[in-house]
Amino acid sequence: MTRISLIKPDDWHLHLRSGEALKSIVGMSARQMGRAIIMPNLSSPVKSVRQAQAYRKEIMKALPTNSGFNPLMVLYLTDGTTPKEIESAGATPEIYAAKLYPAGVTTNSDDGVTNVTNIYPALEAMQKEEIPLLVHGEVTDPEVDVFDRESVFIEKVLDRVVKDFPGLKIVLEHITTKDAVDYVLRCKDNIAATITPHHLLANRNHMLVGGIKPHYYCLPVLKRHNPDQKALLKAAISGNPKFFLGTDSAPHDREKKESACGCAGIFSAHAAIELYAEVFDGEGSIERLEGFASIFGPDFYGLPHNREKITLEKSPWRVPDHYEFAGSKLTPFFAGAELSWKLLS
Ligand code: DOR
Ligand code: ZN
Repeated sequence: MTRISLIKPDDWHLHLRSGEALKSIVGMSARQMGRAIIMPNLSSPVKSVRQAQAYRKEIMKALPTNSGFNPLMVLYLTDGTTPKEIESAGATPEIYAAKLYPAGVTTNSDDGVTNVTNIYPALEAMQKEEIPLLVHGEVTDPEVDVFDRESVFIEKVLDRVVKDFPGLKIVLEHITTKDAVDYVLRCKDNIAATITPHHLLANRNHMLVGGIKPHYYCLPVLKRHNPDQKALLKAAISGNPKFFLGTDSAPHDREKKESACGCAGIFSAHAAIELYAEVFDGEGSIERLEGFASIFGPDFYGLPHNREKITLEKSPWRVPDHYEFAGSKLTPFFAGAELSWKLLS
């Protein structure tokens, strides 16, 4: 097959940043995606309905004209998030979810949740308002090895939340382990997961063999090829609607990545759907791409499928070495390497 058409995809986990950074990258997602769930971990996090509305306005202003792109806003949960704020989010059509960052787990998560029981009143309200909970599933306990943090979170924190809020929709974001795949499969249909292109196309060898490669550093950190990456690949191409597209594209400028204390985050918005096409084609399952990219996400969120279509052509192209990014440079995933599928504009 050399050409495929699919319903326009959506990105169910995207970092767009703000200010000049936002302006330099938002067009790339808008070209590929109909909608995106916008992560709220700005340097000043999006904790209130008012902030979410202001951030959405900023995104809309930064978009190319007539892009048709729809940013779906997310509240950042803190120990102090009130049920009242959640009720107000429930009455705000632009807000689609709320996000749990364990405090200190990743970029701009210092105001996150110190103990999940602190947000139980907010979770109660979310269950009632039918607002999905999005989860960065890692513990921060320094005693727990960084490669085990997702598995320990599932066992010690997530499972309890799932049992205590049986009606709450939960997305375990950017899953990285076989443990996460197995857990999501064991749960009922209200528990789903997003999978990134980088966790499908890379493993920790890419980051650590032959020298430390900071552009492969993200959180949750890349895991083993076997069994973790293999389990993610199997889940993504399985056609099981519990698993859908979420890039976690997270831009940081080159200086902040190539540093003695480099930031976590891999930028993939420049070629998101092409990267996933590479994965599905590589597994001999290109015909399953549309479900993963364009159908299962909206179905989980209870939203209509996009009406537009996109076309991908098997026509190799080289990913640029960098993009301009707010006066600095941004190294994209697959920089300088070849991708076999190209999105026709
Ligand atoms: O690698 C990551 N980068 N993981 C996250 O959880 C946050 C993200 C970011 O905002 O840079
Ligand atoms: Zn993220």
